[in-house]
This record gives sequence, structure tokens and C-alpha cells, in this order.
Amino acid sequence: MRICTIGAGYVGLVTAACFAELGHYVISVDNDEKKIKMLKKLRMPIYEPGLEELVVRNVKNGRLKFTTDIGEGVRNSDIIFIAVGTPPKEDGSADLSSVEAVARAIAENMDSYKVIVEKSTVPVETGEWVKRTLQLYRKKDVSFDIVSNPEFLREGSAVEDFLHPSRIVIGVESKRAEKIMREVYAKIKAPILVTDIKSAELIKHASNSFLATKISYINAIANICELVGADVVKVAEGMGLDKRIGREFLDAGCGFGGFCLPKDLASFKWICNKLGYNFKLLEVVEEINEGQKRKVVEKIEKLLWNISGKVIGVLGLSFKPNTDDIRFSVAIDIIRLLLEKGAIVKVYDPRAMEKSKAVLGKKVKYCKDPYSVSKGSDALVILTGWEEFKNLDYKRIKKLLRVPVVIDGRNLLDKEEMKKLGFMYEGIGR
Ligand code: UDX
Repeated sequence: MRICTIGAGYVGLVTAACFAELGHYVISVDNDEKKIKMLKKLRMPIYEPGLEELVVRNVKNGRLKFTTDIGEGVRNSDIIFIAVGTPPKEDGSADLSSVEAVARAIAENMDSYKVIVEKSTVPVETGEWVKRTLQLYRKKDVSFDIVSNPEFLREGSAVEDFLHPSRIVIGVESKRAEKIMREVYAKIKAPILVTDIKSAELIKHASNSFLATKISYINAIANICELVGADVVKVAEGMGLDKRIGREFLDAGCGFGGFCLPKDLASFKWICNKLGYNFKLLEVVEEINEGQKRKVVEKIEKLLWNISGKVIGVLGLSFKPNTDDIRFSVAIDIIRLLLEKGAIVKVYDPRAMEKSKAVLGKKVKYCKDPYSVSKGSDALVILTGWEEFKNLDYKRIKKLLRVPVVIDGRNLLDKEEMKKLGFMYEGIGR
């Protein structure tokens, strides 16, 4: 099939490469000339495991092309996926101006029947607005169908998630569009759920908000564990064995971040309010998450008294392990809280150092490894769950630290082991 994807970010580029891999002819459009130039030279603008290989293979076999010309993409395809950014505005609502601009550009270039698919995460009823925009601005009287087909890609495993999804959700208004969408995904083995457009839009927001709620729930339980001296890791294990609950997304810690969960939660809350429903639960989910960030600072204060002037070593900057992405990273937020309190902060991350330099600048000291972070620090704080932080030489770290304090914001380490080594160890909820 002839597919056009608009937006070559995390979602759009993965979508384009994977559809090409499935045998479709794909034109990937982005208005960022630098990015398209890079991609034409087969250089990746983002790091995502497996992506480069797919892009290279499919460009070479002629199934994947890149362009900045949206008209070229629209005219030469039957199905158009909108995968542009929907970043959060100050009030939490999603900024849909790029979606609108793309809808207008599609309208102006449509010359035959097209299926226009919302892939980006958008609030419920965006499909209606896209449809109206197309009707208002189309130059030729051609018919079209709107589809909502939300992505459920996790960073770091986006290609894998795309090719082996837990489900494919297709929100449609016509049998014709449903048939085409089924064909698009024919080679993927996964349950396909066909709904109306609004339900499909809601599935995305409802899923991500539920995942965020699950994390905040276990973080609240972690706080109770601390009050009574129980271990949240054990509690999560016990809860998770119940199939209805499941163990995933029950890792207590210093909070959730990233470009999806916090933004989708805020955007969902906003749209619910606009519709006249005050989704208070989501407010509390956010509140608990903010509390977890402060909790790390409070733990340092509990052990070391004043933070001002203390040297704090931080391990982890990315919003989760195995990515260089620091957007809405809890680690960055906590570092800012520490800096506000006058701490001297030293940092290390296996992949996210470069990106962090752009936001933290000279306010922190960048170290070459966890040992140089530890040297002379009054406390070592783990903020991202990188596997390599589990296997450090903690005996050596104890000697390097000024005071043997470890705050483990991701419950990575064995508490008893750390105590045996002579650390003052604080996890979350244990
Ligand atoms: C998420 C959803 O999982 C995905 O389905 C959606 O399409 C996009 O948003 P992603 O943002 O890549 O994916 O990261 P995810 O793995 O969900 O982690 C989000 C945050 O939650 C991270 O900061 C992580 O550290 C935190 N987290 C996750 C916890 O604190 N505890 C957990 O148990 C799980």
C-alpha cells in the first residue's frame, strides 16, 4: 500500500520504517530540513534500538523515502498518518496547532480519496476537528475517511512494540476505512479492536493515565511502608501475583517521567475538565508523583541536615534506563530541587550526558563514571534504574564518598547488602 507519514519524530519515524519493513511503500515527511537531510544520508536523528537497520534496509530497497514536501507525500499515497508533535501547553492542554497545520496541508493537496489517520496522541474529539478542517480547506471535492489509530510505543523498545503490539486499536466511521486499515496491519499478529473514533482516542489517554495511576498507587503504598517499616518491593510482589493486578508498573520509586505519561495525564485531565468532568483521581496521581521527587530531597535532609553546600553525587539523568531522552525526566527535576537548596551537584549517566548539558549547562559537574561522581560526595543518589548501577563496586564507592550515604530512588540495590557494607542506605518504601 502507499503510505505517507507526517512527522519524523519518535513515533513517525518508527511508524514509517516499520510499515516499509512490512512491505508498504512509505514516504516520510518532516518540515525540518536538517532532519530530512540526515535521514537521506541514512543518519538517525534519534536513538532507538533496531531503527537504523530498518531505515537503511528499506531506503536501499526503495520502499522508504524522505521529503520535506508534504504535497508530494499526500499526492503519492492512499493512507496518511499524522504523527506530528502534540506538546503540552502551560495549562496542561495539548498544543494541536501542528495537527491543524498538517490537516490543512493535506486538505490543500488531496486529489483523490484518502484515509487520514491520527497516530499522535490527541485529546478526544480531535478527529472531529481534523475532519472539519479537511472539509473547510479541501481544494478538490474528493472524499476521505478519518481514522484514530493510537500508538502504544515505549521508548527504547518502539520498533519491537510496533511489530509485536499487545493490540491494534482502530477507530473508524466507515467500513471502507476499516478494510483499508486491516490491510495495512495484515502482516502483524495482534488482536485488532475496531471502535468508533472517539473511543479509540480515549483508549490512549485512558491507558496512559491508568499506567500513571498504577505507579502513583504503589508510590503511595511505599509511603505507608515507610511509616510502618514494611517493604514495598515485597508488597508489590504479593499484589502482582494476582493476575487481575499484574506485577508490571508496580515499581515504587522517585516518580514517573518521560514525554508520555506526565503529558498525557495533564492533557487528559484538561480535556475532562473542558467536557465538564472533574477527574480528581488524576490530580492526586500527579500530586503523589510530585511528592516522590521531594521525598528524595527530604531523605537527604533527614540524613545530612542542611543541603546547602553539600556535594551530592547523582547517578542517572534519563527519564528511564536504556534511553538518552531527558524530556520530563524526574532526575532533572530532582537535580533542580537540589540546586535550589544550594547543593553542589555532580552527575553521571551512561547515555544522557550530552542532552543534559543542554538543559543543566554549567550548573552541575559532569563526571566520566560513577566513581568520579562518588569521590568526595556527601551522598550518592540513584535517580534512573540503569542496570549498570546495580553492579558497581560499592566497596570502592564507600571509600570514595565523604559520608557513606546512598539514596536509591529506584530500589535497584539490595538493602541488606548495602547495610552490611556499612552504608546508610535509603530506598523508597523499604
Ligand atoms: C509510556 C507507555 O508505557 C507507552 O505505552 C506509551 O505509548 C508512551 O508512554 P514510555 O514513556 O516510553 O512509555 O516509558 P515507560 O516505560 O512507560 O516509563 C515511564 C516512566 O514511569 C519512567 O519514568 C519510569 O521510570 C516510570 N516507571 C515505570 C515507574 O516509576 N515505575 C514503574 O513500575 C514503571
